[in-house]
Amino acid sequence: MGKVFDAAEVAKHNTPSSCWVVLYGKVYDVTDFLAEHPGGSKIILKLAGKDATEEYDPIHPPGTLEENLKPEACLGNIDPETLPKPTAEKTESEEQKESLPPVQAMLNMDDIEELATKKVSRKAWAYYYSASDDKASKSFNTQVYRQILLRPRVFIDCTNCDLSTSLLGHKVGVPIYVSPAAMARLAHPAGEAGIAEACRSFGAAQVISNNSSMTPEQIVEGAAPDQVFGWQLYVQIDRKKSEAMLARINKLDAIKFIVLTLDAPVPGKREDDERSSTIGESLPVPSAVKERKRSADGTPDVSQAAGGVGKTLFAGTDPSLTWNETLPWLATQTKKPIILKGLQTHEDAYIASHYTAQVKGIILSNHGGRALDTAPPAVHTLLEIRKYCPQVFDKIEVWVDGGIRRGTDVVKALCLGARGVGIGRPPLWGLGAGGVEGVKRTLQILSDETATCMRLLGVQRVEDLGPQHINTRIVEQQIFDGPSGLDTTPAVLKSKL
Ligand code: FNR
Ligand code: LAC
Repeated sequence: MGKVFDAAEVAKHNTPSSCWVVLYGKVYDVTDFLAEHPGGSKIILKLAGKDATEEYDPIHPPGTLEENLKPEACLGNIDPETLPKPTAEKTESEEQKESLPPVQAMLNMDDIEELATKKVSRKAWAYYYSASDDKASKSFNTQVYRQILLRPRVFIDCTNCDLSTSLLGHKVGVPIYVSPAAMARLAHPAGEAGIAEACRSFGAAQVISNNSSMTPEQIVEGAAPDQVFGWQLYVQIDRKKSEAMLARINKLDAIKFIVLTLDAPVPGKREDDERSSTIGESLPVPSAVKERKRSADGTPDVSQAAGGVGKTLFAGTDPSLTWNETLPWLATQTKKPIILKGLQTHEDAYIASHYTAQVKGIILSNHGGRALDTAPPAVHTLLEIRKYCPQVFDKIEVWVDGGIRRGTDVVKALCLGARGVGIGRPPLWGLGAGGVEGVKRTLQILSDETATCMRLLGVQRVEDLGPQHINTRIVEQQIFDGPSGLDTTPAVLKSKL
């Protein structure tokens, strides 16, 4: 049973020289861990001597305590009777939240985002909403779809419109998939497993983030036999950490592929997130960061800098990945197909299409505008590939994400050659607006809009959508117009060709 402490005793240990916290009914001495906490010591000290469960829980997947603290750090149990009782009275803001309309009354992605904005915490909102610098890429990602016009054909029977398609050979109910996004439990306790539950109802694929707030095992636990998951990897400076994660992922049959994210070797400057930076301090960072802190390579210790949730999460990520080193390494760690995420030029798509032994697909993405601001939207890259190296579409699957907010956006991306169309923020807003039901509502609206668009376009099946259904002339004026650059691909590729 161990020792039982009362809250008053724990409360005395509230200094850097003796710092205790209560987590899930247990008392921990975290004094030695203060300097190592990837999110900085300040946030722990703020909770020193107190029950930190509420702050800690939504952002630390199970296993974090065991991974980071020595067993002897657990001193015993807290006597729950001695903890302050939660007040029975509802606060004004709780009452306001209860009077908000149900998620079923929401009609589009903007409605859902607005509802979620009223319901989620400030820190969740800031992290989800934020994008880099002036958020130009974030807003352009959506706007660019408005610049593409549709070319509807008439006199075609579209009674039986079918949204099903396949991703890497796996049948899915809709071409819409959930992009990897960290920290879903900041929005709602159902978290990433709740998103999985919603995806199940639609046969939608889901890519689990490397920085999920739940373990991959928890997320896929209730998977349907044919449910499709991917797992997204941020390669850690400490390769062993990534290798250990991949070994776990390899054991999960529901996870069909690995998504390696490449567009954010360093985090973008996200000012909304940074403004609420006290939260950043409370976030877990992969333990690789500790290595970085110790390393004398002059790398700035981002975990101590202000910068919000995003910056803290990125801290352990290795910025030194390359085609010729990282891909062969990854191929030794998993047999699952690899998808490269975050390609933003036709040159990189072209290079990727030469690594078909490992790479089965690419995701054109600018990280929802959260990495390099004014980087192109996926639509531009799709058009570039069509112009300079259309053979890429025959060699590997091309998926896109960023800015998808309407069924017409989904259809336009499919017409341009995308096989899968990812949504990052919408499922998070759905979760924040109404838990699992909110994510279902998100997927329902987008699926219905996609089907309506196809019917009005005169197309019954996803594979029949093509460039003949859209007019992209306005956007074509904006895409890259320089030399193809394909003859100057890296030496490594030349040796492969
Ligand atoms: C992301 N994204 C992301 N990408 C990734 O590869 N790994 C990750 O952990 C995350 N985390 C993450 C968190 C949050 C809050 C957001 C909004 C986004 C990027 C994501 O996969 C996707 O590329 C964009 O979100 C797509 O843009 P939209 O749909 O949000 O406009
Ligand atoms: C983000 C990360 C974690 O965009 O990819 O916040």
